Amino acid sequence: MRKYRIALLPGDGIGPEITLVAEKLLKAASQKHGFELIITREPFGGEAIEATGSPLPLSTLETCKSSDAVLLAAIGNPKFDTLPREKRPETGLLSLRSELQLFANIRPVKIYPALINASSLKSEIIKNVDLIVVRELTGGIYFGEPKGRIESDDDIRAFNTMTYSKKEIERVTKVAFELAKDRRSKLCSVDKANVLDVSQLWRDEVNSLSNTYQGVEVSHLYVDNAAMQLIRDPSQFDVLLTSNLFGDILSDEAAMLTGSIGMLPSASLGSIGPGLFEPVHGSAPDIANKNMANPIAMVLSAAMMLRIGLKELEAANSIEDAVNKVLTKGFRTGDLMSEGCIQLGCEEMGAHLLESL
Ligand code: IPM
Ligand code: MN
Repeated sequence: MRKYRIALLPGDGIGPEITLVAEKLLKAASQKHGFELIITREPFGGEAIEATGSPLPLSTLETCKSSDAVLLAAIGNPKFDTLPREKRPETGLLSLRSELQLFANIRPVKIYPALINASSLKSEIIKNVDLIVVRELTGGIYFGEPKGRIESDDDIRAFNTMTYSKKEIERVTKVAFELAKDRRSKLCSVDKANVLDVSQLWRDEVNSLSNTYQGVEVSHLYVDNAAMQLIRDPSQFDVLLTSNLFGDILSDEAAMLTGSIGMLPSASLGSIGPGLFEPVHGSAPDIANKNMANPIAMVLSAAMMLRIGLKELEAANSIEDAVNKVLTKGFRTGDLMSEGCIQLGCEEMGAHLLESL
């Protein structure tokens, strides 16, 4: 029987609740499609800080590195905001991405017909939306040096550095071109080349690579314009290529096209080793442990893990079909609720998904 090792990181806030749902679906899908998942749970984020003092304990990192794929729910809680930066949950996530060399973050934005009225945008604007944000994930201003804080007698200055090398731009741009090639062959690269030197290099490299991908139509947008176009006419986009910070911002915006950020999964990939699969949303501490969370982004992240990480396409399809069926029947968590639908808690949504599998 095909066997895969999965590192499972439930993390903080709503993380454990949505993990429970995803885990049940993964077990059922693996049984149905004849493979075995050996799942190892590890502490990560705030949970790990409380247990060990570090958001990414060495043992967690080792389990991740020796797995076939890593599935993460969410991390973070405002109660850690006063800790030194290296001890915060978010730093653990950045270290994990960096340690696993996951330079390409793929965030597909797809509209479910059943949710067309859940978006805050008009249905005719979003009905044909099918785009992917490819976000650079291990460079840019998130990791740039120097960074820090300098205090003088009469002022304080803090700074970060937005920096990219030609090689860093090239490898993520290739991922975006490869994806575009198998889709509608349109690549839009987002930058701020009218102001930033780092963006000029970004644009130059995208243009230079476009010679090897002749079949793909390349365009460039300044990030401010891209933010506006995403809500003006989002169906113009096929693959959007962005740096780390711009992609962080634009993917939250793009998520809302679907009606809720609770719908968006993501895959973070490198050129070697396991990928990391996680919802785009955060840990939502305000609704944690209230059985209110939407588990769908987590469930769809598990499906992405099956498809991209384990190449178990049929199992991935059955999970995605289950999501579609449950939404079509009118079942909704609170974030997606609209008139005439049936509101469910996280656990009940999980039960319906399992039943539809
Ligand atoms: C995301 C998150 C993270 C990021 C945070 C939690 C560090 O917002 O995955 O989009 O900024 O990358
Ligand atoms: Mn984000």
